[in-house]
Amino acid sequence: MALTVLALESSCDETAAAVVRDRQILGQAIASQIGLHGPWGGVVPELAAREHVTAVNRVLAETQAQAQIPWAAIDGIAVTAAPGLIGSLLVGVSAAKTLALMHNKPLIGVHHLEGHLCSVLLADPDLIPPFLCLLVSGGHSSLVWVPAFGTYQILGQTRDDAAGEAFDKVARLLGLGYPGGPAIERAAREGNPKAYPLPPGRIAEAPLDFSFSGLKTAVRRLCEKFPPEALPVADIAASFQHTVAEALVQRTLRCAEQVSATTIAAVGGVAANTHLRSRLQAQAADRGWRVVFPPLSLCTDNAAMIGCAGGLRLQRGHVSPLSLAPRSRLNLTESDQLYR
Ligand code: KG4
Ligand code: ZN
Repeated sequence: MALTVLALESSCDETAAAVVRDRQILGQAIASQIGLHGPWGGVVPELAAREHVTAVNRVLAETQAQAQIPWAAIDGIAVTAAPGLIGSLLVGVSAAKTLALMHNKPLIGVHHLEGHLCSVLLADPDLIPPFLCLLVSGGHSSLVWVPAFGTYQILGQTRDDAAGEAFDKVARLLGLGYPGGPAIERAAREGNPKAYPLPPGRIAEAPLDFSFSGLKTAVRRLCEKFPPEALPVADIAASFQHTVAEALVQRTLRCAEQVSATTIAAVGGVAANTHLRSRLQAQAADRGWRVVFPPLSLCTDNAAMIGCAGGLRLQRGHVSPLSLAPRSRLNLTESDQLYR
């Protein structure tokens, strides 16, 4: 039976709501805080939490106006409960609890990364596990084997910075502003990806793990060689982007080979990167494998992916207690804890 879920997401700097029926988005709205945090060069947690409070009701109203679904037809309220900025998570979770209580609906706390993972299900209605998922966001970088929905095996992960975090830090070094990913992608269009060889951050004893802090340091050293007014921004951006993409693609292909995966999903903010998408697509196609990406709008944080995950949990009878407490940290493999 297709379930209809109203979902909220407020784990970082986007306040988002959506109504999702099975894998179909019936309405959604997102209030981005980019303008608010831009001048600070990164997300300021206190400002983010306050802004979520201001935006949540407006975003909810806009979503419901779009979806035109009466409360009687809503089967549950899903909300990102972990991981994320605690003050920001609290806003979404409090709003979701209030709605669940008022309208007597089940509450479904969702792990943010399970949400990202489900964004690919919205993109391809026929996709079912097993698949290998490259999950690359601002806070996480991992290779997750998904034999079934709700069962996750982490086969590779970052040892230090997440891929998105590396984009944001290097963008700052290049004076490109926040958020770094889209800014680097724009600058890199005019640059030569082979201009500066950079270290790919291989870890000998763990070939499926990522490390981006050495790459970041190499970019800093490279920048120091130029006077600020002569910094070859486009070439450095292109070389950096290419190095990160190759590091992600090579490990993903290696991992897919190990687990005999023929379907690969790539999700999270960094999966919006056009260069990464085309490199992964091309190299997987050479091996006869399929790659599925969410549309760009569903790569970065949104509530539709949380609604999709919430619906799948609800279908399995997973409901959170009204005492649900948001958690700033929680491993994806521990997401069942949200339903006890
Ligand atoms: O998934 P997301 O919206 O939030 C988290 O859960 O962290 O990911 C945000 C991250 C940021 O670090 C941002 O710089 C990066 O995704 N990002 C990109 C692109 N768009 C967003 N990185 C590379 N290329 C992009 N086009
Ligand atoms: Zn995210």
